[in-house]
Amino acid sequence: MRFDIISIFPDMFTGSFSHSIIKRAIDKGLAEIYLHDLRDYTTDKHRSVDDYAFGGGAGMVMRIEPIARCIEKLKAERDYDEIIFLTPDGELLNQGLSNELSMKGNLMMLCGHYKGVDERLRELYFSREISIGDYVLSGGELGAAVLVDSIVRLIPGVLGDETSALSDSFQNNLLSPPVYTRPREFKGLKVPDILLSGHQAKIDDWKLEKAIERTRTRRPDLLDKDD
Ligand code: ADE
Repeated sequence: MRFDIISIFPDMFTGSFSHSIIKRAIDKGLAEIYLHDLRDYTTDKHRSVDDYAFGGGAGMVMRIEPIARCIEKLKAERDYDEIIFLTPDGELLNQGLSNELSMKGNLMMLCGHYKGVDERLRELYFSREISIGDYVLSGGELGAAVLVDSIVRLIPGVLGDETSALSDSFQNNLLSPPVYTRPREFKGLKVPDILLSGHQAKIDDWKLEKAIERTRTRRPDLLDKDD
């Protein structure tokens, strides 16, 4: 799967993409991530990517031309399944959306900044606009990193144990049950006996029961969802 990320701070991604599961996916050839510095698509000597908003008001707006130039260059090279704008007023990211995007081939992402992008870019180019949560970040880079991470771990072959992505919190709209490892007792707190019993069917029942219990207390809204 291929990701093309357009950003004014491409260096922000190097840490998050060079470790752990994403690194493994890239090393195995299951994910390719290309970073594009938006300033390389400017034509003025200041390499400016923003301008004042028509009508006034605080905050600058990302200019059309460098973004359009970059998107059009990439589109001329290959077809994209989705061209995504990371923005706090986008559709809220959830596990279902990550699952859906993990089945695509080529994704392009633009990281927003300032007050946003000129509205005409939104009309012309983006097939999806995604927010990673109801809070405002300094820019779309962290949002894009979160989105890529949540997608890459779902690509078949990326996780060693094929079932482990399926047992993540939010698959089936349930939070994960509690997990334990050694030692069997720590500061007087013991690992539940059932997990040491060796009865796999009973252990699975216990895990489901705990997952439902945890979801009911922490995220009851998930139990009402029907997708
Ligand atoms: N840019 C700024 N805030 C954001 C958010 N919550 N999600 C995605 N992109 C953003």
